[in-house]
Amino acid sequence: MITAAEERAFYDQQYAQFLALPDHALRTNRQILERNLDDPSQPFYERRVLYRATIRALESEPLRGQKILDYGCGPADFGLWMATEGADVTLLDLSPMAIELGLKRAEASGVTVRGVAADAAHLDNFADAEFDLVFACAALHHTLKYPGALNELARIMRPGARLVLCETWGGNPLLNVARKLRAALAREQEEQGEDIILDRKQLAALQPFFENIHVEHYNLLAMSKRLLRGRFTASWSRAALHALEAVDRPLLAAVPLLKNWCGEAVITARRGPR
Ligand SMILES: C[S@@+](CC[C@H](N)C(=O)[O-])C[C@H]1O[C@@H](n2cnc3c(N)ncnc32)[C@H](O)[C@@H]1O
Repeated sequence: MITAAEERAFYDQQYAQFLALPDHALRTNRQILERNLDDPSQPFYERRVLYRATIRALESEPLRGQKILDYGCGPADFGLWMATEGADVTLLDLSPMAIELGLKRAEASGVTVRGVAADAAHLDNFADAEFDLVFACAALHHTLKYPGALNELARIMRPGARLVLCETWGGNPLLNVARKLRAALAREQEEQGEDIILDRKQLAALQPFFENIHVEHYNLLAMSKRLLRGRFTASWSRAALHALEAVDRPLLAAVPLLKNWCGEAVITARRGPR
């Protein structure tokens, strides 16, 4: 198992390269987020179904004035978007580079956010019941391995606060083997997180703290999109993706049991009473 120091060093190196980007490339808001989701040359395109569902979940209740934590924020696209919608946003990441990048992007986007570089297992900077909403994109599967991280997450959320997770889903054993194989072939480091992927077992850990845990699954056959990565600017590749998505919809509606075999999920829950 990797240490927090190794994970921090890995992500610092990942994010440092973006710090030199000009302001126009760092800026974000709703329009830019939407444009990136629609643009096949952008990395967001591959996850556009998941990310659109995430946006719907986040804005299913008003964001303006809410105290929101973007947990394991990385480049913080969603936290910064919510700040541009009038939310009071805090960015949290183990990587100081992520926070530096997030603050720089906030300035370029014309919003003010708070940035905290800390280990999710030790959130001493945060008060009990501080947040109305905690959002984590591809982050909880990183932090769950650190003892105490879940207790800390629950502590800083007020009773009734919302949790919105945007995650890869690990309910499909074949897909999990393919993921591990792909990560090994690509010589990805352990820090990139293929070792823990959320599934029902991981979610059970949330139950003592959260109510109304709901999983919305996305992409069954369409998970083959991983094979098309980097090729979405080609029309044949987009046509293949759309065809797979078009088969998924009726298939999942007809056989709901298959949902657990999907590769991505938006998970929502509410912090229970203390
Ligand atoms: C896969 S990245 C996701 C980043 C971002 N949320 C996104 O979707 O682009 C995982 C993030 O979790 C952060 N992270 C990992 N372990 C953490 C910890 N113990 N405490 C806080 N953040 C952590 C990493 O630094 C990294 O930025």
